[in-house]
Amino acid sequence: MNTKAIIFDAYGTLFDVNSAAEKCKDKIGDEWEAFANFWRTTQLEYTWLRSLMNRHKDFWQVTEDSLEKSMSVFKVDMSMKNELLNLYKILSTYPEVKKVLENLKKKNFKLAILSNGTPSLLNELVKSNNLDYLFDDLFSVEEVKIYKPDNRVYDLPVKKYKIQPKEITFLSANTWDVSGGGNFGFNSVWVNRNRSHFDNLDYKPKYEIGNLTQLLDVV
Ligand code: LAC
Repeated sequence: MNTKAIIFDAYGTLFDVNSAAEKCKDKIGDEWEAFANFWRTTQLEYTWLRSLMNRHKDFWQVTEDSLEKSMSVFKVDMSMKNELLNLYKILSTYPEVKKVLENLKKKNFKLAILSNGTPSLLNELVKSNNLDYLFDDLFSVEEVKIYKPDNRVYDLPVKKYKIQPKEITFLSANTWDVSGGGNFGFNSVWVNRNRSHFDNLDYKPKYEIGNLTQLLDVV
């Protein structure tokens, strides 16, 4: 692959979206994982629906709105809302992330995040995980006020770096995001952390990896 920039999705790809609820699992109870998955699914549905309705709200507000619905569906005590939201600001990375980024940086690739998250959320996530020195850019949908998989989002790094979409290797654990970036023209790589199934959305990635360590072989 003729890769000039390696661009990562944030939530679910670098940062473990279930880690906020996991840290409260004693209080939430046995259903903590189902609750975390429901929160994530609802959050993503709200991004797509808001884009279709042309009623943008930033990712932090969408995260709170989807959390409120999830807490009422799972009957989680509303007094835990702020604790869960504060933990969402400092989600943990998956274990291999830092080492892989350090190796890629040594090879002089341009490294960036392209995410639904707001600029301040992305800044706080990379700072709290000591990753800030590794990224050239943190691209946020807030520049275009519409969510992935709108092409205006995937176009952000293309415009900034003045390169072709096919010169970007794009990593996401979210199948629909792999398809979105791939249909746009990126070399999309699927980070299939949970041995799940791919989508039928007009794009099949050339590479599927179980975690980011295998990316070092691909590029
Ligand atoms: C993001 C979501 C899709 O970071 O995970 O953009």
